[in-house]
Amino acid sequence: MRQQQEGVHPSFMGVIRQKERIKGKLGGVKHRIGVYSAKGGVGKTTIAVNLAYTLARMDFKVGILDADIDCPNLTLFTGISEMMDMSIIPLKPIVKDGIKFASTAMLIDDLKRPIIWRGPLVAKMIGDFFENTDWGELDYLIIDLSPGTSDAPLSIMQLLELDGILIVTTPQRISGINSIRSGLMAKRLNVAVLGVLENMSTGTISQSTKEVVERLSTNLIGTIKRDEKFNEFSDSGIPSVEKDAAIKEQFSKVAKRLVGTKNSP
Ligand SMILES: Nc1ncnc2c1ncn2[C@@H]1O[C@H](COP(=O)(O)OP(=O)(O)OP(=O)(O)O)[C@@H](O)[C@H]1O
Ligand SMILES: [Mg+2]
Repeated sequence: MRQQQEGVHPSFMGVIRQKERIKGKLGGVKHRIGVYSAKGGVGKTTIAVNLAYTLARMDFKVGILDADIDCPNLTLFTGISEMMDMSIIPLKPIVKDGIKFASTAMLIDDLKRPIIWRGPLVAKMIGDFFENTDWGELDYLIIDLSPGTSDAPLSIMQLLELDGILIVTTPQRISGINSIRSGLMAKRLNVAVLGVLENMSTGTISQSTKEVVERLSTNLIGTIKRDEKFNEFSDSGIPSVEKDAAIKEQFSKVAKRLVGTKNSP
């Protein structure tokens, strides 16, 4: 082991050590699923939140981490105004509706002072946040990733041993192309692509989504239809699955298929 490590760059050794420490901290978490697309605004946070609620209503123990530290939206989508107590380390996620939530927006009121992080600080913040948050026992930790293919999603994929990522795409060529980019990046980092979800769907799978599934040699996990009610509910801090039976039904199908992609806890 020592001999192997001698050839490794010192900064990389830091990542390896931090990864080990995080692994220890997440010992009670059975499954970790990233919700990702390199393209912004396709519905990653919407899907992450509604999926977490759906899994919780299936009696799984669920947590959700907002890994978008530039624009942390989780608190807005869930109506959480409570802050995490920074005087207690490890940090305790906020519990609401039986689900554990953690976001940097629960540490710093970034609407008064927006968070502007340079690349290395993003990686450090994410690593520190993980190392110092106590998730306890969970069946599923859902991670709402930020768009892009740079520091934040990269750090999560490097630091966490994810079961894999769920790629969110929309029925548009530009979205499809960026989804392929997202999946290829994950694969290069040895992160599994669990499947593709077409959000804002017409109900008929688009050609671009079919191409994403084919190029990434993965499965279509399901579709969520375009519905203006998502905007209303998320603006009021209410997960749509809690209010709308048709949306709940679509998420149930997605959750069941996703759970089926791996061993149940
Ligand atoms: N199925 C849908 N139908 C209609 N609107 C939707 C749907 N899903 C999400 N939206 C809306 O699209 C907008 C973007 O959603 P969201 O913030 O979840 O995307 P995102 O991918 O997380 O964005 P970002 O890249 O900025 O993190 C929101 O206004 C949301 O209400
Ligand atoms: Mg988001």
